[in-house]
Amino acid sequence: MLKVSKILIDRQENPAALSEPTPYLGWQLESDRQNVHQTAYRICIRDGLMPFWDSGRITGSESAAVRYAGPPLNEECRYTLELTVWDNHGESAQGKAEFSTALFAPRFLTAQWITHTLADNHSECPVFVRHFSAEPVQKARLYLSACGIYTVRLNGQEVSQDWFAPGWTEYASRLQYQVYDVTALIQPENTLEITTANGWYAGYLNGTRQVYGKQTAIFAELSLTCMDSHRVTVATDVRWQWYLGQHREAEFYHGERIDRTAVPTAPQPVVLAEDLNAHAPALVPQQCEPVRVLERRAPVQLLHTPDGTPILDFGQNMAGVVRLDWQGSPGQEITLRFAEALTPDGSLYTANLRTAKATDTFVCSGGKDTFVPRFTYHGFRYVSIAGMGGNPPLDAFTALVLGTDAAATAQFSCSSPLVNRLWANIVWGQRSNFVDVPTDCPQRDERLGWTGDAAVFCRTAAQNEDVYRFFRKWLADLAIGQAADGGVPHIVPNVNGQGSGGAAVWCDAAVTIPWTLYELYGERDILERQYPSMKAWVEYMRRQETPDHLRQCGFQHGDWLALDREEGRGNRGSTDAYLIASAYYAHCTRLLAKAAAVLGKAQEVAEYTALHRAICSGFQQEYITATGRVVGETQTALALILLFDLARAEHRDRIAQSLVQNLDKHQGHLTTGFIGTPILMDALSKIGRNDLAGKLLLNEDFPGWLYEVRCGATTMWERWDSVRPDGSFDESGMNSFNHYAFGAVGDWLLEQLVGIRPAEPGYRAITLQPQLIQGITQACALRTTPYGRVRLAWQCLNHLITVEVEIPANTTAQLFLPEQEGSITLGSGSYQYSYATETDLTPQRFTMDTPLRTMLADADAKAVLSAALPGMLDGPAAAFLAGKSFNDLKGMMPGGEALFAQLLTKLNQLC
Ligand code: BGC
Repeated sequence: MLKVSKILIDRQENPAALSEPTPYLGWQLESDRQNVHQTAYRICIRDGLMPFWDSGRITGSESAAVRYAGPPLNEECRYTLELTVWDNHGESAQGKAEFSTALFAPRFLTAQWITHTLADNHSECPVFVRHFSAEPVQKARLYLSACGIYTVRLNGQEVSQDWFAPGWTEYASRLQYQVYDVTALIQPENTLEITTANGWYAGYLNGTRQVYGKQTAIFAELSLTCMDSHRVTVATDVRWQWYLGQHREAEFYHGERIDRTAVPTAPQPVVLAEDLNAHAPALVPQQCEPVRVLERRAPVQLLHTPDGTPILDFGQNMAGVVRLDWQGSPGQEITLRFAEALTPDGSLYTANLRTAKATDTFVCSGGKDTFVPRFTYHGFRYVSIAGMGGNPPLDAFTALVLGTDAAATAQFSCSSPLVNRLWANIVWGQRSNFVDVPTDCPQRDERLGWTGDAAVFCRTAAQNEDVYRFFRKWLADLAIGQAADGGVPHIVPNVNGQGSGGAAVWCDAAVTIPWTLYELYGERDILERQYPSMKAWVEYMRRQETPDHLRQCGFQHGDWLALDREEGRGNRGSTDAYLIASAYYAHCTRLLAKAAAVLGKAQEVAEYTALHRAICSGFQQEYITATGRVVGETQTALALILLFDLARAEHRDRIAQSLVQNLDKHQGHLTTGFIGTPILMDALSKIGRNDLAGKLLLNEDFPGWLYEVRCGATTMWERWDSVRPDGSFDESGMNSFNHYAFGAVGDWLLEQLVGIRPAEPGYRAITLQPQLIQGITQACALRTTPYGRVRLAWQCLNHLITVEVEIPANTTAQLFLPEQEGSITLGSGSYQYSYATETDLTPQRFTMDTPLRTMLADADAKAVLSAALPGMLDGPAAAFLAGKSFNDLKGMMPGGEALFAQLLTKLNQLC
């Protein structure tokens, strides 16, 4: 039977404050039949009981990203949407959704911006208050925004569980407001209280403070619809007062102080914020999912520093705060200090926080207190506790994990517990850094929307979670921050204020992110919105190009944090920064031409296709010799050329060979940074060397993804050597343990290892192509696509390959079964295949090329080796031997070949 399983309005189910007057609609179908296609649909929208719009029966299979084609929706209305669909089996189904619209442009609000009279360099949290009487109401809606961040209480009740409202946008241009239905909270006598903190607006940010303004301010309007339908408004004006409550200090970087003994200060008159009233930023409805508590976690153990200070270990690095429930003595002061790691002697490691104090202080009332900091957050796994003695009870503490509340859309697992932990680390990196904007890190005095980090991680992020609206909001701010010449800021919102630095990948986010969103979500809306910004960035580069159409100017980050950097070259890696810039110039131009094609701009398709061709030809002349040798053959350069199709066809094999040789030269290890890492695996897959990609993935020694995991990482590190093999930390002042860029390998796990990828935008057509790699015997993923759930599970065990797939209604898939010729075209439904194979993928943890050092790091392997090579491994030759592999040693002793082959089998059996 056909069923409508989900209806999405601007990607939300039953939205309560829709911000789009002409939203995109989508729905998902389920059926117990196979090969189900929608043949027609009809949408009816009612405003209450009154018909508002009827699409009539529309023939067609479109079911995701359908543009609402009725008259613009009215503001502040409650609508019902009824959907009917018909399929190719002659069945039909109905679905229903409800939604309310926001004020699209809140022009009829009468509130005024008000502020307090604290000195302008404070970190205190003023509370704005208004007492008012009210008749019984049919409806009460509160519209609220602030410069700074706020929480709001009506008659002592928290109105919202959202954090850090009104969120972070390009404040000078636009500021979000929230709308809350407070009907149930209205009483005859009421007190409305709004607490503010400096937040991003006036707090410490990026080495300075008060980036946007000096004082917090609020703008609030409570609209009461009385029983006889007349409206009463309670809006911010000079009748409001302010006082200081118990949240005494708060800054994102430094933490919060809550004093339960503090007597609120006497209320004082507010002042009108004249500047804001004269030049207020445009108020826009909330644009994406708010920051919320995503999860609550208990500490897993209590540790002590050498001087006896207690440290809570939450077992997981995260972004958030710690809640304390405690009855202390009156005035007892408890201090929580946050960190991601411990030093080798078990003390809190805070050097990587730089100037961030990351400290919360709670003063007890003497009764039962609950402390929840609402105006700060920290990046942490460990928390040191002062003021509660040496053994504070663990059950008094709860970590509140904070992040943008986007729906999860991917599950992944495979036979390797280490790779599964890597996957979890990638997801945690995303949760910790999608905090209203995509930040670089959650712990140090930075936490900024670096465009390059977001650009390289976007594809993985957009598979893990539905981040369409999150990125749509942020891309709108990117476009606002773009300079008149098209230059893109390196940080969005643009706290630096200057124009673009022009760095490749960072600025290219203007083009690469909208395109990635289009590919994964299928909504051309994002291209419609961002096309001018995409084009402006390409035109910026075009104005600066050399006569050969290369990009050889401007500040560049290069292959940021690559391991092949040379002494004195900072963090940039040794790949020619202008090769990267020119490769991305070509890539962005090609994507712009594709976007123009989607939007039906034929002339621009022709223009940018020609420009792309010209850039490729200039690139070939400059960077690829007539015989196919690449100038500066780094892994990153080679991967870029292969993945972006920058070389002439006759040179591709040689370039692929160069990449293989380069990996070989580095014993199968990567040397790449922010630019090369996200594409290296894809480039290897593209040249048919998934075997090498598999080895790269499964390397457990330095450097590599699983090296971090084996070191105990629970999030992605900023640098490959954040913790060096000798256990020491990188002390460059830039060493976060929670940076997501290197987690960009996540999309390879889903798209290649498991093998689910979009063949058409939004997964309308799907490619299913598992890749068998040595060391992984099974892998499985579940992806929620705009059409519904796609599942692929494969196994290769005991000489049997099994593949199970699930394909959603209204899509088709091309299935490439491992070790089988050709592909199978499938319609929706579930399918299973199994067949015999000679292949054995059982993990081979060690190979003949593994250095003994790596083997000796494992206690069991060390015991086997010591027994087989008695006396040698702790004798005078130990250091020499540690650097050698079995292949190096086998010729050095009689019978070596057989001895080491046997030894290898024995060692691998230990796994
Ligand atoms: C950030 C990076 C960022 C870089 C660029 C760093 O401080 O943490 O992730 O992309 O600066 O310069």
